[in-house]
Amino acid sequence: MKIPYNYLPMQFRDSSAIFEDWKKLIESTEFTLGPVMEAFEKKFATYVNKKHCIATNNGTDALIIAFKSIGLGPGDEAITVCNTFYATVGAIVATGATPVFVDADSRFQINASKVEAAITSRTKVIVPVHWGGASPDMDAICKIAASKGIAVIEDSCMGIGASINGRSPGTFGKIGAYSMHPLKSLNAMGDGGMVVTDDDSIAEWMRKYRNHGMVDRNHIEFWGVNMRLQPLQAVVASHGLDDLPRVIEKRNQNAKRMDKGLSAFAPKVILPNRPEGYIETFALYMGLFEDRENLLAHLVKNEIEAKIHYPLPLHLQQAASSLGYKRGSFPEAEMQADKLITLPIHQFLENEHIDFIVSKIGEFYKF
Ligand SMILES: Cc1ncc(COP(=O)(O)O)c(C=O)c1O
Repeated sequence: MKIPYNYLPMQFRDSSAIFEDWKKLIESTEFTLGPVMEAFEKKFATYVNKKHCIATNNGTDALIIAFKSIGLGPGDEAITVCNTFYATVGAIVATGATPVFVDADSRFQINASKVEAAITSRTKVIVPVHWGGASPDMDAICKIAASKGIAVIEDSCMGIGASINGRSPGTFGKIGAYSMHPLKSLNAMGDGGMVVTDDDSIAEWMRKYRNHGMVDRNHIEFWGVNMRLQPLQAVVASHGLDDLPRVIEKRNQNAKRMDKGLSAFAPKVILPNRPEGYIETFALYMGLFEDRENLLAHLVKNEIEAKIHYPLPLHLQQAASSLGYKRGSFPEAEMQADKLITLPIHQFLENEHIDFIVSKIGEFYKF
């Protein structure tokens, strides 16, 4: 049985509803900003229950615009976790600020209890990541940040559709940034992103910065850039948002079944704790697996497309060499990088697929 990681061929097999709306958009020729994109921004703001949504051309730019809006720049430090996608840190560095890493906890999230020790007089922002579509302890992080007068900007790029006690990732801090990369829970046919905030003046700044700093066609208030989402992608995302609750529910059903099956193999398999009240997107279904390399080869041989996110934490990447970290700086994330596997869990898998994955892992461990 072949179990692909990539669900896009199935998701976009029938795109007739998207083509219908594209036809209307093409007839309208509203190809930059315009009513289709604005309608999507409103729809997403309502979905996450925030006052403002500004759509951007990808999640990396969503982070950059969010950081720039609070004035993050050279001389400032931004605290984040060392096991995230490159873009979290790339966006910090793009502003001229210095990234400061914190170790992961046993749920693969930023370890909230280690954040305070990383704060210095130069810390301007804490950037928790909703890694894999699960969420860190946002209450604890926001409490520390508030007590020190430091902003929180959430990298909720993987978190669309998740929640903590009913509240969406990206809505706890000053600004939340999201990605609609094809392998995110809400995806475009290419790149897309958003930022959300309740702060009127930050929203206004981000809206202008995204569009060259323009106040109207003939005047700019400040130097900006072009970070606009394409309306063609807003159409795709709007359809995706309608379908999102079903996607999240199905992935959670699959994850529950996978958790149950894999828990029989403890301690060879260690799964993260899933706290009450937290709903995940399962952008990544991760666990720690004994004898990882051989298990991975066994899965691939059996046509189960498993992956690793990621084998090398950010502080050990060549790009981070000037930051002064070394192996041993973040033992939890380093241990996880050596043992973790990401299994397919997407919404097009059925019970038989999940059971097949579990049975092949059981076969490997001779259960
Ligand atoms: C945690 C995280 N941050 C940022 C990004 C960047 O998003 P994008 O690829 O849309 O630029 C991604 C996804 O790629 C991500 O997973």
